[in-house]
Amino acid sequence: MTLTQLRQRSLLGLKDISKEEIESILDRAAYFEAQTTKVQQAQQGKFAANMFFENSTRTRFSFEVAEKRLGAEVINFSAAASSVQKGESIYDTVRTLESMGIDVGIIRLKPIGLLAELAEKIKVPLINAGDGNNEHPTQALLDLYTMRKHFGSIQGLNVAIIGDVLHSRVARSNLWALTKLGAKVSFCAPDNMQATELDVNYISMEEALKADVVMMLRVQLERHESGMLSSAEAYREQYGLTVDRAKKMGSHAIIMHPAPVNRNVEIDDELVEHPQSRIFPQMENGVPIRMAVIERALA
Ligand code: CP
Repeated sequence: MTLTQLRQRSLLGLKDISKEEIESILDRAAYFEAQTTKVQQAQQGKFAANMFFENSTRTRFSFEVAEKRLGAEVINFSAAASSVQKGESIYDTVRTLESMGIDVGIIRLKPIGLLAELAEKIKVPLINAGDGNNEHPTQALLDLYTMRKHFGSIQGLNVAIIGDVLHSRVARSNLWALTKLGAKVSFCAPDNMQATELDVNYISMEEALKADVVMMLRVQLERHESGMLSSAEAYREQYGLTVDRAKKMGSHAIIMHPAPVNRNVEIDDELVEHPQSRIFPQMENGVPIRMAVIERALA
């Protein structure tokens, strides 16, 4: 495989890929969603390694389902049960799996910048399953797919992303991809959870509720410095999507959230499976999106 092919098949983020490439992944996901056969043999004999150095439920298992539906062999690596616990580095771990003959590596990790460094040294395509607060490209792709399914097109949509933007890789990947596809993206966040380096408009909660897509973000307590959140109740009061606030949304509008959800903090319990919510459909859409991304990597 040439270096150009390796770069084309990897998916490190959405900031640097074209609108056409994003649309082609969405189209291929629609093809996979329409298939009635649950398991195909298209990628039989290929090995996919899911390497999660940070916890995950949705991303990890939907990659596994996607790989199995494509007929690939699946290797699941979990840092907690590996030689990482003996001090082995992430690079040595990935290099070890590469040396065993994997054809694609799916990686989630905490340190920002490390994935790009790995991609310079590893000779199989790598897919970003979430790196620090940098990017979570397959989450944003499934979010775009969910919006396109509901509205028919992304072009011209008003998308409000609300909450802990500072720590959110989902907000960043969505901002870059949605903007490329012609959506208007605004953020709404408390002062201490804003990402000031991003060129984006911050709006009030009242304004955000007028959007076509109200995307709530998880308050990422595990990434907070102490004292960032005064109390869950105070946060819900000012930035939570409460039942009363949801009544102000347009009847055409949808509620999204990448999950996991802090119920009754950033979103009220009753809204998670509300008719306007797409939270569980987002998870469902993660499988065809990841099938399309894996197929692209193994082409
Ligand atoms: N949305 C998301 O990335 O969920 P997981 O952390 O469970 O993978």
